[in-house]
Amino acid sequence: MKQIVVLTGAGMSAESGIKTFRDDDGLWRSHRFEDLATPEAWQRNPQLVLDFYNERRKQLFEVAPNAGHIALAKLENSFDVQIVTQNVDDLHERAGSKNVLHLHGELKKVRSTTNPSLVYTMDHWELKLGDVCAEGGQLRPHIVWFGEAVPNIGQAISLVKKADLLLVIGTSLQVYPAASLIGYAPHGVPVVLIDPKASPATHHLNLRIIRQTAAVGVPVFVDELLHNLPA
Ligand code: APR
Repeated sequence: MKQIVVLTGAGMSAESGIKTFRDDDGLWRSHRFEDLATPEAWQRNPQLVLDFYNERRKQLFEVAPNAGHIALAKLENSFDVQIVTQNVDDLHERAGSKNVLHLHGELKKVRSTTNPSLVYTMDHWELKLGDVCAEGGQLRPHIVWFGEAVPNIGQAISLVKKADLLLVIGTSLQVYPAASLIGYAPHGVPVVLIDPKASPATHHLNLRIIRQTAAVGVPVFVDELLHNLPA
């Protein structure tokens, strides 16, 4: 079965009501990420960091997958689909996608600051100072902050190297190592970008750009794939 790898970014969830980072109304337009998404920020002002992720986690309980997420889940009926997402929301999973690899962590998960192997899933939105792991260590967001390692990048590279099609949706491709994934698509494998403002720096040989939003462009592209299936 053909292997489709889908690299998604914040634009995938924009039509679900979740802000992106670098659009005009993006998160980094109203916050300094250095104050919120770095280990130094956590050391300097843990309450401010907790508040930032609590607000985003709270919103997660109020939003739903959009037509783009749902179309990707439908694709799994006919292809071997692997989602590699930079997003920390759970909208791919809630839409029904089974194979989702998070590069930058998960908003609904928290982990011990004293034993990182202790990871917990939250069923409520608020993480507080004083919320501790089984060993008594303060819990922190299970998010990859700027300057921290991206543990799943090796697995992501292996997946892209085996892809028969690489679909890239809603990412500015400005953050590494995630952005480097596009370069691991095997020679000749089609790379399709779906993004209303796509302006890729990459000069991939077999690149197609669909300047549409995720909720509009992804269902159309998925239907195109499903209708071109060999009889
Ligand atoms: N549909 C598809 N794409 C969209 C939509 C939409 N409705 N709205 C915006 N976009 C596109 C923008 O044109 C842009 O290319 O989504 C992209 C969003 O880019 P960023 O805000 O930079 O988000 P992303 O690429 O996911 O950022 C990568 O940076 O801050 C870190 O860890 C954070 O995972 C994040 C990483």
